[in-house]
Amino acid sequence: MSRLPGALAHLPLPIIGSPLFIISNPKLVIAQCTSGVVGSMPALNARPAEQLEEWLIEITEGLAAWNRDHPDQPAAPYAINQIVHKSNERLEHDMALCVKYKVPIIITSLGAREDINAAAHSYGGVVLHDIINNKFARKAIEKGADGLIAVAAGAGGHAGIKSPFALVQEIRQWFDGPVALSGSIATGGAVLAAQAMGADFAYIGSAFIATEEARAAEGYKHAIVAGSSDDIVYSNLFTGVHGNYLAASIRAAGLDPENLPVSDPSAMNFSSGSSKPKAWKEIWGSGQGIGVIDKVRPAAEFIAQLRREYDEARRRLLA
Ligand SMILES: Cc1cc2nc3c(=O)[nH]c(=O)nc-3n(C[C@H](O)[C@H](O)[C@H](O)COP(=O)(O)O)c2cc1C
Repeated sequence: MSRLPGALAHLPLPIIGSPLFIISNPKLVIAQCTSGVVGSMPALNARPAEQLEEWLIEITEGLAAWNRDHPDQPAAPYAINQIVHKSNERLEHDMALCVKYKVPIIITSLGAREDINAAAHSYGGVVLHDIINNKFARKAIEKGADGLIAVAAGAGGHAGIKSPFALVQEIRQWFDGPVALSGSIATGGAVLAAQAMGADFAYIGSAFIATEEARAAEGYKHAIVAGSSDDIVYSNLFTGVHGNYLAASIRAAGLDPENLPVSDPSAMNFSSGSSKPKAWKEIWGSGQGIGVIDKVRPAAEFIAQLRREYDEARRRLLA
């Protein structure tokens, strides 16, 4: 096993519920953490920016109340995702709030910055940076991240194209710190497989879209339940960066998922005035692992199933 900083050591289940643009919210984060997995949300989901402080208070107080009532079953820590991209005009504001509320884990995406890592470290926070290849992984650690999120082929959102085996093997040749693996993980057996491969945690996103707490349209949740890997299209058209999307939503927007036009790389924009949420509101992101998601249900129920499957897979393989 690798070296794990305090916030990530001794998690009840080796799972991080990953940040989902627009969809994650305090209710989902609290449900994830109190069910034993790290819950997370992008800071940018709180709009306007002032709402972020209210949400951080809601999460902090919600988890403290849980811990008071369940001393034998404490909540897992939570994470806030920062989009470290030049178009994110809120980054300094949002990071200052994370420092104020001592957010235990900061997940950085799309850019690695030493000052953001230093801000998290100033109060003992842990930084995990998401990467799609070994080169970016080295850069992230050089800039001071504590751990890595390996985003492999088949992941929802801005996914990479590397096999999870290739990615984790290459990273483990030189890095013995925390590594989470993402890309189509949706069962407890797959969580154990990620660990067997050398990762410490499974990083699960799309499966949480089909939960009652997720802030997604009912049609979106049902498309996740109805869909499988055959329904996922990999394209850079919508944000300028390659990502995986549900073909049905592309069709509903009047486009042919089989013949998408080429991208506009300048389209990526995370500023508050951006029209980009449209890319996620109307064109629905999803990874390839949704074929096993068969209903919309409370996050706690889904996590309880992951726990049963994980324990069962361990029993079967370690017998
Ligand atoms: C709809 C959607 C929105 C996402 N938004 C973000 C985001 O705002 N920030 C981020 O770091 N990752 C984002 N991701 C990527 C996920 O955090 C994670 O890497 C991915 O969902 C894992 O793969 P899986 O969906 O196959 O489980 C998003 C993914 C999806 C499906």
